Amino acid sequence: MATATVEQAPAAADAVPSFQVTMRLRRFNPEQDTEARWEDHTLTMYGTDRVLDALHKIKWEIDGSLTFRRSCAHGICGSDAMRINGRNRLACKTLLKDLPLDKPVTVEPIKGLAVLKDFVVDMEPFFEAYRSIMPFLVTSGNDPSRERRQSPEDRARYDDTTKCIMCAACTSSCPVYWTDGQYFGPQAIVGAHRFIFDSRDEGAEQRLEILNDRDGVWRCRTTFNCTDACPRGIEVTKAIQEVKRALLFRRG
Ligand code: SF4
Ligand code: FES
Repeated sequence: MATATVEQAPAAADAVPSFQVTMRLRRFNPEQDTEARWEDHTLTMYGTDRVLDALHKIKWEIDGSLTFRRSCAHGICGSDAMRINGRNRLACKTLLKDLPLDKPVTVEPIKGLAVLKDFVVDMEPFFEAYRSIMPFLVTSGNDPSRERRQSPEDRARYDDTTKCIMCAACTSSCPVYWTDGQYFGPQAIVGAHRFIFDSRDEGAEQRLEILNDRDGVWRCRTTFNCTDACPRGIEVTKAIQEVKRALLFRRG
């Protein structure tokens, strides 16, 4: 296990309380490693620092080969979902001071998707599932002469699932997705829910038929991992249940 220590502080260090944290990273470089390995870095960090700041410090000051996705750094783009202390979270939304610092903070790639390097996984199966549920407004083709009107009540019907940032924290926390390999996964169902319950949309029947597939919504075992993992607070399991009920109602 490799270990590195950084001891430095910004000019304002006297005014900002600092603390030591050991970041325990699950590293994998397909060009060098036959299997993943753990690597420790002990850093001096500050009260407002997030896991993403610690990863940046390592990448920019210790080892530039550390590889992870991030973009907005503010919980919007959905690119930095990781397993932090064994739980799926966004690195940019996880404050170090909120984690137990008397032991190393572990960081691993999300599960269920092939690891390409360090914390970068192959997202293509995830996006393929999303594409398959027709994530766009379906209408009978008559272009409106003005915006498609919708009441506040109708808009509220699917408000929760519009918040999805496609980070994959839900899908990659689902035990069915880990073991199955074919299941659409929670995010694709959330994406479908957003349109199925949109009063302006006319593609609900098609989407429900797609999710009625043997790899569809019935694979869900209601473990609530997805709801716990969602950084946007979306009630993922509830959305899945609503799609199931829509299918049952349709059958009736
Ligand atoms: S439902 Fe939540 S956890 Fe799942 S992809 Fe969307 S934002 Fe991420
Ligand atoms: S970097 Fe964009 S959500 Fe974290």
